[in-house]
Amino acid sequence: MDKMVIRGGERLLGQTRVSGSKNAALPILCAAILTPEPCTLRGVPALRDIRTTRLLLDRLGVKMSADAGDVVIDAKNLSGHEAPYEIVKTMRAGVLVLGPLVARLGRARVSLPGGCAIGARPIDQHLKGLEKLGAHIRLEHGYVEAEAPQGLKGAVINFDVPTVGGTENLLMAATLAQGKTVIANAAREPEIEALAEWLRAMGAKIDGDGTDEITIRGVTELHGADLPLIPDRIETGTLMVAAGITQGNVLLQNVRLDQVEAVVDKLRQAGLVIEPENDGVRVVGPHKVRAVDVRTHPYPGFPTDMQAQFMALMCINDGLSVVTETIFENRFMHVLELQRMGASIHIEGRSAMVRGTPFLSGAPVMATDLRASASLVLAGLTAEGVTEVQRIYHLDRGYERLDDKLIALGAKISRATQDTV
Ligand code: EPZ
Repeated sequence: MDKMVIRGGERLLGQTRVSGSKNAALPILCAAILTPEPCTLRGVPALRDIRTTRLLLDRLGVKMSADAGDVVIDAKNLSGHEAPYEIVKTMRAGVLVLGPLVARLGRARVSLPGGCAIGARPIDQHLKGLEKLGAHIRLEHGYVEAEAPQGLKGAVINFDVPTVGGTENLLMAATLAQGKTVIANAAREPEIEALAEWLRAMGAKIDGDGTDEITIRGVTELHGADLPLIPDRIETGTLMVAAGITQGNVLLQNVRLDQVEAVVDKLRQAGLVIEPENDGVRVVGPHKVRAVDVRTHPYPGFPTDMQAQFMALMCINDGLSVVTETIFENRFMHVLELQRMGASIHIEGRSAMVRGTPFLSGAPVMATDLRASASLVLAGLTAEGVTEVQRIYHLDRGYERLDDKLIALGAKISRATQDTV
């Protein structure tokens, strides 16, 4: 098992390119199941979650081939209808084949994902929505068994919570349903708009994505599509914090500033200078970071996926910042590890009171999930001495060569095999 060894204290300087969005790629790859024609998604990052999706699609008889980030998905011979436990337990996004499989084959058997390091994360809203579309759902032996032998029928679906994955699953399912579907209280994340754009390119009739009410008029068949992927907005924010926390000066390329407004707003309040340039967005870190409160919300609010990284930045100022997590109930696992690096953080319910210190001190720490590991890497960049982030495989699920990008900007990072006792 690999660990990442970071010698802190280097200012990050230079330019780097943000990779394609993981959380847009995963549903889009699943959406390609909806047609027997080949589809091409361009600019797909080389990530562990993408490899896991490929494994899942392979089990379904779908061929996926990649050439330098351009991925071709061919579901002509779609034969399987099961997403097995071994795959869904390692990547919850495996449940995103549920909607497309029921829509195209009239049945699906998908493992319930079970618990997760950051919260309970049920999929009740996905199932409630599919039932509204006429699917018969049973939960048996840890699996969701969904059937709609006569096809799905359009309906009004009103989510109790705006769920990203639920909106994606239902959006995909409704494209081939008979008649009109309305998804109310839909999630508005840019990844939903990216999926809708992809589905439209496949021939789907969708309006209202990006708002909380999406209307889908079902069609009888979809065809192949060929589109580039949007940039990863969470990698964008993470690299901005990397520049800010090291007093760096970095030009980020392949950035959609309109999709990271809430993050940019908070980072500017913290003292970072973030300005568009011809060839990207320049990020300059302040001499002294200012304390800023932040509260996570569904898009367009501050994303939960940036909470841990923002907290790392808040550890090194001379004020008090309150970081409140409202989306997931257990997303403070990084706090104990940041404390091992000298951070002064006190948790009260859903809020973390972060009292800034002038510096952090390098230490061996343990990654517990994807964004927690990013937060520890960021803390390591500014800490005095050496930080060893163990279980770094979490980072590789969602960041493409983050260490190589940081090294190219001047960070002192290496990978080593983790000692086992
Ligand atoms: C997506 O997860 C992202 N994953 C997550 O990114 C992200 O943190 C999350 O959205 C919120 O933005 C992917 O896109 C692959 P939700 P998802 O359904 O779809 C509750 C990362 O680090 N809920 O919007 O699983 C749920 O418990 C990851 O890249 C229900 O109650 O999130 C949570 O409190 C981690 N019932 C809230 O809604 C349901 O049926 C939002 O979850 C579904 C969700």
